[in-house]
Amino acid sequence: MALVTGASSGIGLEFARLLAARGHDLVLVARSKCRLDDLAKELGTAHGVAVKAAPMDLGLPGSAQVLWELTENQGLEIEILINNAGIGLYGEHSVLGPAQVASMLQLNILSLSELCQRYGAGMGQRGKGWILNIASTAAYQPTPYFAAYGASKAYVLNFSEALAMELEDQGVVVSCLSPGPSDTAFFSDMDQRGLQVEALAKGGRRSARAVAEVGLERLFAGKLSSIDGRINALKARSLRLVPRAVVARFSKTLMTATSAAGPAVRAH
Ligand SMILES: NC(=O)c1ccc[n+]([C@@H]2O[C@H](COP(=O)([O-])OP(=O)(O)OC[C@H]3O[C@@H](n4cnc5c(N)ncnc54)[C@H](OP(=O)(O)O)[C@@H]3O)[C@@H](O)[C@H]2O)c1
Repeated sequence: MALVTGASSGIGLEFARLLAARGHDLVLVARSKCRLDDLAKELGTAHGVAVKAAPMDLGLPGSAQVLWELTENQGLEIEILINNAGIGLYGEHSVLGPAQVASMLQLNILSLSELCQRYGAGMGQRGKGWILNIASTAAYQPTPYFAAYGASKAYVLNFSEALAMELEDQGVVVSCLSPGPSDTAFFSDMDQRGLQVEALAKGGRRSARAVAEVGLERLFAGKLSSIDGRINALKARSLRLVPRAVVARFSKTLMTATSAAGPAVRAH
């Protein structure tokens, strides 16, 4: 059975579709109960798999434990864990609400880590399992105006690589995929505000389906960590050769948004 977080839209929805098409029973997690219920029906009917919707806010402390207890109590054995749910708060860090930032870090970092810990332990005992954590190309450099988001994804990348080394001897594969800009609701707030950040422009975004396909392919190939898309990979890797101060400044230039209403980098 596979558990996908953030399965109600975007890349997570495509992970759920692809796994169901491969015949995996599923647990679907996100906050939107209606969307999960509809998807569970759709996938169950189309592929004859058992699909359970588990509506849950993983931005709340304690939620990872609640989710784990829910699957344990129902005797659901999770063999594949896709830690995909994540949000990115855009704006000057000093202006963002501390509670919003804390909730994002709980979701992007703490819940992800705890789910790896809890489900990874069971996989290790059974001697088999696959964990895919979704980071971002933002993990590879500082990202002004996405400062805490980018740092949370650097955590996901570093943590996943270390965890992979710990769990490999127990037969568990841990893989980390870093997508670049992808065509999902992730940027909807920025798009609605008319913000134009060249590096994130709509035309250059990869489809959610393509990202999910690459993620599963790399996971089952046992790849430690990888970047989705050749150009994204080239950009991220080339930055390693450049001094960090230069990369930070370059990243600031790229991430500075403009709109018809003038500079709009402050969060609201
Ligand atoms: N799109 C990109 O350009 C891009 C680039 C790099 C990395 N990523 C990463 O890819 C992953 C998927 O994002 P996406 O692009 O597919 O965006 P998306 O379409 O906005 O999907 C995000 C998913 O996470 C769920 N989610 C959000 N907050 C949650 C919470 N507090 N508790 C539980 N579930 C929550 C959302 O469902 P509900 O709203 O129903 O809770 C939704 O299913 C994220 O980790 C993101 O950081 C995306």
